[in-house]
Amino acid sequence: MKLIRLVFFVGTCLLLRSNLSKKFLYSFGLSCTFAILIFQFTVMTEYDVVVIGSGPGGYVCAIRAAQLGKKVALIEKYNSLGGTCLNVGCIPSKALLDSSHHFHSAVHEFADHGINVGDPKADLKKMIERKRKVVNQTVDGIKFLMGKNKIDVYHGLGSFEDAHTVKIAGEKEERIKGKNIVIATGSKPSNLPFISLDKERVITSTEALELQEIPKHMIVIGGGVIGVELGSVYARLGSKVSVVEYLDRIIPAFDKEMSKELMRSLKKIGVEFHLSTKVTAVERDGDIVKITAEDKKGESVNIEGDICLVSIGRRPYTDGLNLEAAGVKANERGQVEVNDHLQTNQSHIYAIGDVVRGTMLAHKAEEEGVMVAEIIDGQKPHIDYNLIPNVVYTWPEVASVGKGEEALREAGREIKIGSFPMRALGRSRASGDIDGVVKIMADAKTDEILGVQMIGARAADMIAETVVAMEFRASAEDLSRMSHAHPTYTEAVKEAALAATGNRALHM
Ligand code: FAD
Ligand code: NAI
Repeated sequence: MKLIRLVFFVGTCLLLRSNLSKKFLYSFGLSCTFAILIFQFTVMTEYDVVVIGSGPGGYVCAIRAAQLGKKVALIEKYNSLGGTCLNVGCIPSKALLDSSHHFHSAVHEFADHGINVGDPKADLKKMIERKRKVVNQTVDGIKFLMGKNKIDVYHGLGSFEDAHTVKIAGEKEERIKGKNIVIATGSKPSNLPFISLDKERVITSTEALELQEIPKHMIVIGGGVIGVELGSVYARLGSKVSVVEYLDRIIPAFDKEMSKELMRSLKKIGVEFHLSTKVTAVERDGDIVKITAEDKKGESVNIEGDICLVSIGRRPYTDGLNLEAAGVKANERGQVEVNDHLQTNQSHIYAIGDVVRGTMLAHKAEEEGVMVAEIIDGQKPHIDYNLIPNVVYTWPEVASVGKGEEALREAGREIKIGSFPMRALGRSRASGDIDGVVKIMADAKTDEILGVQMIGARAADMIAETVVAMEFRASAEDLSRMSHAHPTYTEAVKEAALAATGNRALHM
């Protein structure tokens, strides 16, 4: 298009210098302008790869495709890039978890270390302000990466017009074409049909990251990852927190042992739990929210608070995408259906991240983004979903990779288990973080590590070593014979591996 404008400009200059009549020049100019306008509206820019959605799945896919020499467009409906993770998910929640952790340590732990800071006060407005800064810096980083990789960014709602054309409804309406299109539109919070989310007192995680006052009593419906992470933030800041969970355990994606350990730790900071309890009604009465529920004995449970956080999972998001126009199928759960190569039923349209099957995690979305870009490039990448780690950023942190003990037993695997309590480590006693345990499951005959579950200080970072070990199909003995720096929390991994291989733990 730039070239056509240049030709038009040079041509006009030459004509003006010629001896042709003004009338002729005028009508010629007008016709050319119309021709360009018609051209602009009928001939759309065509890209090798068009990515819809700029979360960790979408923006990573765009970068990898650009690295591979593709002409790439990224469409995002909001002004801010980075999706749920950067704007209302991973990054802001971790910023608040860190701030509230510092506050809690100042109130409850500093004195023990001989530090007297008087009577610390939590300034939630300041914490939220800091969180916003962290988010903005991170989002700016993505903007920079888009420019660096020469990716064309369009802001506006992307929707299919046909299997190769995407309309972008932003400040102006535009249309672009993609030889390949990647759907990376993410997810939104789920809700129960009888709950009216007023986003003021009955809220989702998005609003919980923007509260301006510390709640007196926060009721959390759903004891999954969001419930325990954001419940921890406000419990540390002094809120009473009540978690109402439908199942008989919190964080059900982990072994029951991890759930129990985490509950024990969270109870110490004042979180109360109602397990096996089914919420039947949520009503707002002025500044009060009333929850009615039923426990497993059928007895009624009534809780009153000033904030109710609904965190019962998330649903894939394809609203406004007009999948039908492209002939792309979604299943009854709303997930875009994909094969092992992340292709939809239209082979040039791919889908990745929260909008497809599998765990809703940023790093899973990123792996899929890279995989799709490389498939489009003709490569043969592969993801081992069993080795995507899972982390909960409470304190202590919880982390896992591979299969849990319960899943392995259910599958009839013969396993041996090595466990090591964090409290037996010198490092834990030095910092005062003595809660937790590392558990390694290995094949009873071959000793190959099949899964790791851990709860303890820095478990989020510690899990990485076991991911590497499993990627290389290490045995528990391999891990037990590696030197681990002393004193570190990671010594618990070595000790658990020693325990798994003939009860050789040295410090237990
Ligand atoms: P998203 O990040 O949801 O991005 C999708 C993007 O697509 C959005 O920006 C959306 O605006 C855009 N979009 C949607 N439809 C259109 C359209 N039609 N046109 C244009 N744009 C569109 N995961 C972790 O791994 N670690 C964590 O610590 C963690 N913490 C979390 C904390 C919270 C509170 C929440 C809610 C989630 C957390 N997650 C975490 C999950 C993580 O945020 C998601 O798994 C991840 O963001 C999914 O990435 P995605 O690219 O698939 O989609
Ligand atoms: P979740 O799936 O982790 O937990 C939802 C919980 O709600 C489950 O324990 C479930 O049993 C319970 N539940 C469902 N219906 C219920 C009902 N009617 N009454 C009471 N309890 C009910 O979902 P959550 O916490 O909303 O998080 C959504 C997703 O976001 C997670 O699946 C996770 O993938 C991602 N996430 C990841 C984080 C991380 O990696 N650290 C942090 C936060 C979110």
